[in-house]
Amino acid sequence: MRIVLFGPPGAGKGTQAHRLADRMDLALIATGDIFRENVGNDTELGREAKSYMDKGELVPDDVVVRMVLDRLDEEDAHHGFILDGFPRTLPQAQALENALAERDRPLGVVLKFVIPDEVAVKRLAGRRTCKLCQRSYNVEFKPPRIEGVCDACGGELYQREDDGEATVRNRLEVYERQTAPLLAYYRQRGLLATVSGEGPIEAVRRAIRAAVGA
Ligand code: AP5
Repeated sequence: MRIVLFGPPGAGKGTQAHRLADRMDLALIATGDIFRENVGNDTELGREAKSYMDKGELVPDDVVVRMVLDRLDEEDAHHGFILDGFPRTLPQAQALENALAERDRPLGVVLKFVIPDEVAVKRLAGRRTCKLCQRSYNVEFKPPRIEGVCDACGGELYQREDDGEATVRNRLEVYERQTAPLLAYYRQRGLLATVSGEGPIEAVRRAIRAAVGA
């Protein structure tokens, strides 16, 4: 199965992506996570991406596309994957479609999460992210068992620099301007399914399973 998780910042894509990938035994390819890993390791890619991420702007298409297409050719992605945070622009969507057509591995579903902006802003203000495995927690809605420590891997939790309110508002605007127009692209191809990202994490998880048949 090849799945795209689509939706604004704070919609819960990352939270659900980890669970769904484990359940369906799919490779999880989350572009934001890959960039943050590179920022943490101070690589050339990380330094380039950071200048955009800190402002809530998108990293240039050529950089992201190259990175994702390389990742899709890795062994674990051959029998299925979940893309979280990609594609985010029309050129990214077209590059993905062409690459998957060449490999005879078309997308199965593009799952759109719907949440109001104010819910996203509130969630992101309380988000804590694991430095090692990038899982998301929330001081209010999903606290870790031990404060500051990841339940899954024991990594240290931190607050993302781009989760400040002003940057979040810019990320929401960038989503509306550059990413939301892709919905028409996927609707035309009959790939779009929608779930509500509101409500408890478990309820969202059940809706996603129903939508992808997991
Ligand atoms: P990225 O890391 O992809 O960020 P994003 O898409 O803005 O998404 P978020 O990670 O903010 O939200 P999420 O939907 O995953 O929410 P989460 O599950 O954590 O991208 C970061 C940056 O990298 C971009 O701004 C850009 O610069 C760059 N980038 C990445 N991909 C790119 C691309 N393709 N092209 C160009 N640039 C790119 O949940 C949020 C919080 O809510 C958590 O605290 C969680 O615990 C909580 N929560 C989740 N679900 C629920 C629920 N149902 N109820 C209550 N709380 C919940």
